[in-house]
Amino acid sequence: MDCLEALTTRSGVLDYRPDPVEKGLIEQVLNAAISAPSPANLQAWSFVVVTHPEKTRKLAHYLMDVQDRKVFQEFLGLQPEETGRYMRLYEMFDQVPCFIIICLEPKCHFTLPEHESILRDWYLLSLGAAVGNLMAAAKAFGLGTRWFGGFALDGGGQYLKELFSIPGDIEIAAVTPLGYPADSVRPRKRIEQSREELSAFEREDSRRLAQMLRGKLPLKDLIHYEKWVG
Ligand SMILES: Cc1cc2nc3c(=O)[nH]c(=O)nc-3n(C[C@H](O)[C@H](O)[C@H](O)COP(=O)(O)O)c2cc1C
Repeated sequence: MDCLEALTTRSGVLDYRPDPVEKGLIEQVLNAAISAPSPANLQAWSFVVVTHPEKTRKLAHYLMDVQDRKVFQEFLGLQPEETGRYMRLYEMFDQVPCFIIICLEPKCHFTLPEHESILRDWYLLSLGAAVGNLMAAAKAFGLGTRWFGGFALDGGGQYLKELFSIPGDIEIAAVTPLGYPADSVRPRKRIEQSREELSAFEREDSRRLAQMLRGKLPLKDLIHYEKWVG
């Protein structure tokens, strides 16, 4: 699969086969991640690779708990009975053979004083680029991923920090499962969204939530040639 196809056909995968992912493949995916640009080449990233079955299950349950109780109920305001549809998607996570925890680890504080206040944004931007590379590389190898980032709801992922002995000054930026998609996973057809639809979306509109999360704005609405129009 070429790079463009990997980038444009990737979508979040929730349903995985239990087959392990070879260490060499995991490292190739992470090698793509660390090929991303970073501010002044500060490379403020580190990765925790989790493959031990007892730990992957605990991590899966944690993600389900954060998603269900905190995101679906507390943030989106869904009733517990309404979360069933979404939770069924996450139940498959018990089978995930590998998770990658993407950490923000500043290693060097070389910066201009003027840049101090934007340094964290820069770090996070470069971590986003690294995760993008990771996900595209995984896709190119036939592997699935799904970006999880709701850790502010748990004090920045305190549970994960304890479970994986992650030092207090290291931030958890994202977590993704990494595994072979289940046979039932079909390439997702892109649903086109309109700007009006996206901006009118209300947190409580659980009926439209799944569609809202999957749609994409058309490219023509996001490009301004030569100057901002509209
Ligand atoms: C910073 C960030 C945080 C995210 N956090 C979560 C999350 O906590 N749970 C989740 O199910 N998806 C999460 N996502 C995935 C998005 O919901 C998903 O990318 C979006 O709906 C588009 O779907 P796609 O990735 O299949 O194209 C996150 C994505 C990003 C970039």
